[in-house]
Amino acid sequence: MVIKTDVMKVENNEKVLTRGFLFACTSDTEEECFNRKVFATEKAYGPIVIRIRKGDLLFLNNIDTDVIYGVFKAASEGFFNVESGIFNRKYPYQVRIESVGDEIRVSNAKKILNKLAVKRNRPILKGKLGELLNTFMNSSIKMDFTEETQDSKSRNLLYEEIEAIKNSIAKIDIEEEIPLIEATTFWDFPRQSYGLTPKGNNRYAGVTPALIIYNMVWRYTDPGDLVVDPMCGSGTTIDVCKEENRRAIGYDIHPTREDIAKNDARNIPLEDDSVDMVFIDSPYGDNIKYNEEPKNIGNISSESEEFYDELEKVMKESHRILKEGKVLGWLIGDQWVKKMFTPVGLRIYERLCSHFEPVDIICVSRRGQSSNTGVWQNRARRFNFYLRGFKYLIIVRKSVHKEVEHKPRTIKWARYER
Ligand SMILES: C[S@@+](CC[C@H](N)C(=O)[O-])C[C@H]1O[C@@H](n2cnc3c(N)ncnc32)[C@H](O)[C@@H]1O
Repeated sequence: MVIKTDVMKVENNEKVLTRGFLFACTSDTEEECFNRKVFATEKAYGPIVIRIRKGDLLFLNNIDTDVIYGVFKAASEGFFNVESGIFNRKYPYQVRIESVGDEIRVSNAKKILNKLAVKRNRPILKGKLGELLNTFMNSSIKMDFTEETQDSKSRNLLYEEIEAIKNSIAKIDIEEEIPLIEATTFWDFPRQSYGLTPKGNNRYAGVTPALIIYNMVWRYTDPGDLVVDPMCGSGTTIDVCKEENRRAIGYDIHPTREDIAKNDARNIPLEDDSVDMVFIDSPYGDNIKYNEEPKNIGNISSESEEFYDELEKVMKESHRILKEGKVLGWLIGDQWVKKMFTPVGLRIYERLCSHFEPVDIICVSRRGQSSNTGVWQNRARRFNFYLRGFKYLIIVRKSVHKEVEHKPRTIKWARYER
């Protein structure tokens, strides 16, 4: 499957910022990169690669020989390719390359990249890109062109091209943010959205922070996969999936936009085993009045058993439509109201685990809560209760049916002296 990116955000070509991107290879893979004229990398760098635009600058770092090769241009947009089987399918995030003039080889790569703080998981922008290009020009001057070719001509062309790029890179200010994938089980996002376009509607009561879905999508799906959100609200899941090149279907009992279909999440109109990921940010009880719809599960109190029984129907449907081995992410928060604490998250976790196998639990910081004011903080201290500071993102997987022998696990801990 070759998925082309459509992430070109700025229509007017003159306003598109040229960025640089660093790829890595080893001595084993270097030849394949140059023979195929393709740079490639693994999924962890997927969010970066699918945003590469034709014309962006590319560099290749051989980590075995400590050399960087340049300067290359992207001859295609970045794409996902698992079917051609190149690079042993280990590096499916790829871009086609062309050289900008003669290929230049710069030694002491590690030192240079460290000094410029250039990393593979970030685009190289403006001043930094200019400095890296200068490094290549300086190296080229020192290079010994011995062959009787049009060396000086091609070198001049290279200089001209590099100068032109350097002059153009400083002019534009807008740059798309490419968020890093979270590494720990604590996520704290200062804003609801990311990137240059809105994700969902941040005025919708109970809107989901888009980076939660972004992280789920990049951890558990590939470009082209199908993601379903049965309680889609203002459509955050659809917008994130579109930007990250996934297919998405969003339902809600009370749709807020045309691309969300009206449907009760307890009965999803999709075939068994047909979906690559389900994401749900369900009501947490009856604390928010979403709409007048009588079938809205958000009309039921999370202090009642009925709330969990109805959500369990949504869990069963999600399990039915998911392919084996695929993942469901469920965002949920606890409740404290009128001196009564209800551990909604743990109760949902319990129910989920009777259908799925656990993958992990993420603690998501609750920002922008209406109760997060000085007055409420003071009340919480005076009357000895807590304001809700976090939500759970419960990640579970539909089991794969195969006969496995369950052996007790032996863990060899690395123990450190205190
Ligand atoms: C927390 S909101 C989802 C927010 C959404 N992820 C977003 O970013 O805008 C929960 C949603 O569940 C929907 N909902 C409640 N009961 C439902 C049901 N039975 N079937 C489908 N959707 C339902 C509500 O209408 C509401 O939009």
